[in-house]
Amino acid sequence: MSAVIEIEGLRKSFRRLRHGDRVALDGFDLLVEAGQVHGFLGPNGSGKTTTLRALLGLVRADAGRMTVLGQPAPRLLRAVSNRFGAIVESPQFFGNFTGRKTLQLLATAGGVPAVRVDEALERVGLRDRGDDRVKAYSLGMKQRLAVASALLKQPELLILDEPANGLDPAGIREMRDMMRALAADGVTVLVSSHILAEIELICDHVTIISRGRRVAAGTVRAVLAGFDHGDYLVRVAEPARAAEVVEAAGLRVVIHDDHLVVSGVDDPARLSELLGGHDLWVRELTPLTPDLESVFLELTGARVPRQVDDAGGPPGTDGHVELGPTTPEVTA
Ligand SMILES: Nc1ncnc2c1ncn2[C@@H]1O[C@H](COP(=O)(O)OP(=O)(O)OP(=O)(O)O)[C@@H](O)[C@H]1O
Ligand SMILES: [Mg+2]
Repeated sequence: MSAVIEIEGLRKSFRRLRHGDRVALDGFDLLVEAGQVHGFLGPNGSGKTTTLRALLGLVRADAGRMTVLGQPAPRLLRAVSNRFGAIVESPQFFGNFTGRKTLQLLATAGGVPAVRVDEALERVGLRDRGDDRVKAYSLGMKQRLAVASALLKQPELLILDEPANGLDPAGIREMRDMMRALAADGVTVLVSSHILAEIELICDHVTIISRGRRVAAGTVRAVLAGFDHGDYLVRVAEPARAAEVVEAAGLRVVIHDDHLVVSGVDDPARLSELLGGHDLWVRELTPLTPDLESVFLELTGARVPRQVDDAGGPPGTDGHVELGPTTPEVTA
């Protein structure tokens, strides 16, 4: 696998008139490899847009090493500018032009063959609306036109900052289908979002940022597996007695109204056998596997991010998981 985007130790502070500087990026790392659909996940204000802007030279980083397609970024980005597309600031289009005319002008300016215009419109599902004026486009259509403009160069890498922002569910689905189609064609995609379900549906890899630092990275499966505490929901006729039995066996248990949650279970069959051995017959035994949302909350929410050594079960076998150190307060 070759690195398509590498970021190491990226730092950026913004000057403030009062209250000292605001640290937006505090030694952030990111690795995107060829062929990945890589989700860049983090809460509002965690540094996603600043990272992408720094990568593209739209804001000057204070420190860090970055490359795009092997070229030092942003210094030598020009050398690979034909090979990637990025939509980071929402582009402004001239409302009186049609979508097709807009792309034709961009194609001419970029020395791209005119035939690509229709291909790009097709790719983003705007072929039927290509002759409408841009001012008559919905927000979702404008976003897709922006993606089409980035596709004119037939890039091997596409960088999208919050492409689902402001879209309705249908628009989000169209954007998702489009990204999947691009991925199927072998385009590497880096997509930032704070919509976890979206990332979980589209992306194979994910990097989670919190307060300007990477707090988790790896395949979606591996990141989730790193947070699998072996929790099971258990329903039995006598929950209180069952809890005692389970606790006596060295497992952690929390009693809820009509069920128990048992943690640290390696093999559910053993749990069932243990309870059965005390005439406690299990009616339901459901694994509580973490989803990206619970992991995200654990890493970035009110709860303090975990240290590497108490991150729970072993990482998945299909990739690596890295858990950064506890993120410090970075703003004054
Ligand atoms: N031009 C700027 N001047 C001052 N502070 C800024 C500037 N741009 C960003 N920041 C600050 O840097 C931090 C990171 O912002 P950034 O826009 O990168 O977050 P984000 O992860 O993209 O958030 P969102 O999900 O809301 O888009 C925030 O605290 C923000 O207020
Ligand atoms: Mg942003």
